[in-house]
Amino acid sequence: MTQKELSQLLKSMSIEEKINQLLQLSGSVYEETGVITGPVAQMGFDQNNMPAGSVLGIVGADKLKKIQKEYIEKHPHRIPLLFMADIINGYKTIFPIPLALGCTFEPELAEVSAAIAAKESAVSGLHVTFSPMVDLVRDARWGRVMESTGEDTYLNCCFAKAFVAGYQGNNVMDKDKIAACVKHFAAYGAPTAGRDYNNVELSERTLRDDYLPVYQAAIEAGCALVMTSFNTLNRVPSSGNKKIMREILRGEMAFEGVLISDWAAIEEMVCHGMAENRKEAALRALEAGVDIDMMTPCYTGNLKNLLEEGSITEKLLDESAMRILQLKNKLGLFENPYKDADSKEEKRWLLCQEHRESARKIASKSFVLLENENILPLKKEGEKLAFIGPYVENKWIYGAWSIFAEEKDCVSIKEGIIKKIGVTPATFALGCDVLDEGQKIADFASHVESKMTYKERESHLKDAVEAAKTADKVILALGEHAAQSGEAASRAEIRIADGQMKLLERVYEVNKNIVVILFSGRPLDLREVKKYAKAILVVWFPGTEGGNAIADVLFGDFNPSGRLAMSFPYSVGQIPVHYNEFSTGRPYKETEGTRFGSKYLDIPNEPLYPFGYGLSYTSFEYSRVIIDNTKLSFGGYIKASVQVKNTGEYEGEETIQLYIQDVSASVVRPVRELKGFQKVLLKPGESREIVFGIEEMMLKFYNIDMNYCCEPGLFKVFIGGDSRTQNSAQFYYE
Ligand code: BGC
Repeated sequence: MTQKELSQLLKSMSIEEKINQLLQLSGSVYEETGVITGPVAQMGFDQNNMPAGSVLGIVGADKLKKIQKEYIEKHPHRIPLLFMADIINGYKTIFPIPLALGCTFEPELAEVSAAIAAKESAVSGLHVTFSPMVDLVRDARWGRVMESTGEDTYLNCCFAKAFVAGYQGNNVMDKDKIAACVKHFAAYGAPTAGRDYNNVELSERTLRDDYLPVYQAAIEAGCALVMTSFNTLNRVPSSGNKKIMREILRGEMAFEGVLISDWAAIEEMVCHGMAENRKEAALRALEAGVDIDMMTPCYTGNLKNLLEEGSITEKLLDESAMRILQLKNKLGLFENPYKDADSKEEKRWLLCQEHRESARKIASKSFVLLENENILPLKKEGEKLAFIGPYVENKWIYGAWSIFAEEKDCVSIKEGIIKKIGVTPATFALGCDVLDEGQKIADFASHVESKMTYKERESHLKDAVEAAKTADKVILALGEHAAQSGEAASRAEIRIADGQMKLLERVYEVNKNIVVILFSGRPLDLREVKKYAKAILVVWFPGTEGGNAIADVLFGDFNPSGRLAMSFPYSVGQIPVHYNEFSTGRPYKETEGTRFGSKYLDIPNEPLYPFGYGLSYTSFEYSRVIIDNTKLSFGGYIKASVQVKNTGEYEGEETIQLYIQDVSASVVRPVRELKGFQKVLLKPGESREIVFGIEEMMLKFYNIDMNYCCEPGLFKVFIGGDSRTQNSAQFYYE
């Protein structure tokens, strides 16, 4: 449709019809049973009265086509429904969780995974995914760090763009493409004390320097939707925050697409205490420019009244309704309301070999080797290996958001190992459960808990110790339960379960050659694990091909190359801990030996494993940083370079990281900030010159007057293999 036709359509719609476009309901109301239950029933809707303009959370080509057909037939203007869902790290073929993708330092892989997720979702009838989540995360207690690509603004910007490009391609109307929804605007990733849904307090400078650029990157990449966040930002709930939605998002950031509330977030303004009732909440949200009310009757129950009493204008309502119509039009739904939904294509593409191969490769690239005392890689022959732990046969290694994935489609570690080396050289044992006795965690649909009795626990532990006794090496697959991260899964103690620690200690008593494979949705406190393990390989939640990818890395068919996108704290007491902190007036190094330095008495300042860190089976050597000009002039460009050499025995990939420090400015600047990275594959003995261009825009920040600019002065350039590198040069910007 042309814009003119859309305007005519809007003109011909009744007030009720326009308001209905603004409601989103959960797809469960359309499930075949015809019985309306749960929140939708409580909202007063029934099968004959489902006024939504969009639905979320249902999938399947035939099912969605049927719903669409019936809906359009009933609709006075034959306006199609929008189908949306949370496709976070894949639809049926599951990729590593976003935090793991961040660790690849290869945004191209996020684009590939998003394109595959889009294709699988599109043929199953979806139009929109609630992804990417680009919230900057610095607190590992928050369960949703798994949905982010980590603690760094620049890295997250690169990934945000890549996700959007993968989902949307050049045009969301194209075959196999779906619209992306960047979330959660704004600053949801900074809840106080890491507790989900908690309030966020950020200075405007921090918000603008660190948090907003990532949403901006997604918007500049053409992201069709933005989702509001649950949190308050400096005491104002996002869904009613006119300043951030109208002034910043729509005004400064020039976002023209659909703004959708998070689940029930409009109504939650009542709980927050910023609205007395649903009516006031609806008023606040519409005034802020929130177009879609997800899962509450705030808009449908109140906008008409608000209009009639003159509290809102029809123009305001029209603006939102138009944006929704425009999105439907952008997707081509007026001409083809089914878009790519096709059950034959579902059979062909979902979990096809090509998608599985990508998932395997991407998973192996996301693993981070934290420790390796000459124990990895394993040998395919001549070593007696015992694979022990609750993750050896576990197939729920998808992460919290993989709501459409099925356990049966996953390759477990055991299956991956047997495929690689056959059954004979290895033994397998459970050892313990993921959760401890009595531990019960509410999950999305129900809850998870350990069903193992005390007797069973003792017997599994005994078997595991027996298996460990006779092995040359023990590979212990441990970690968090998938339900221990994700939404509403904050943790104050970020360690593996006591039962798993006990298993590790008991195995250590009989065999010191331990490799720990760690499953997790967040950085964990690994101090204890580190004491017992000769190698630690973090595999996050690796997805459908996890077992194969782990086997590839363990046996050296793939040399690990992942780098931490989020620091692993030494202990919870340091949190938030991130590499780009600010200098204090009493840096610890300078005051060492005296009482009055910025330090803890009981733990170090540094995280256990810092941002950008990760080992390889080979080693790399860096030359000193060479800078081609010590002066960067206005509008100019200088080059910083290093020679990187593979000094080990394996071919391997190195991630060369460029950090810049603004040594002195009108406000205190971070000790360093990531401004570039490159990955190179080097053969043993091979070396390569790596060149980074440095230009003005890389030096910009919000200065003392809140101007976004760069200030003249001294800058340091660091180039190395992680955020601690001291390999540096300096230049003046003038
Ligand atoms: C989450 C969103 C998600 C939405 C829809 C909310 O609880 O915060 O990230 O997209 O549900 O499922």
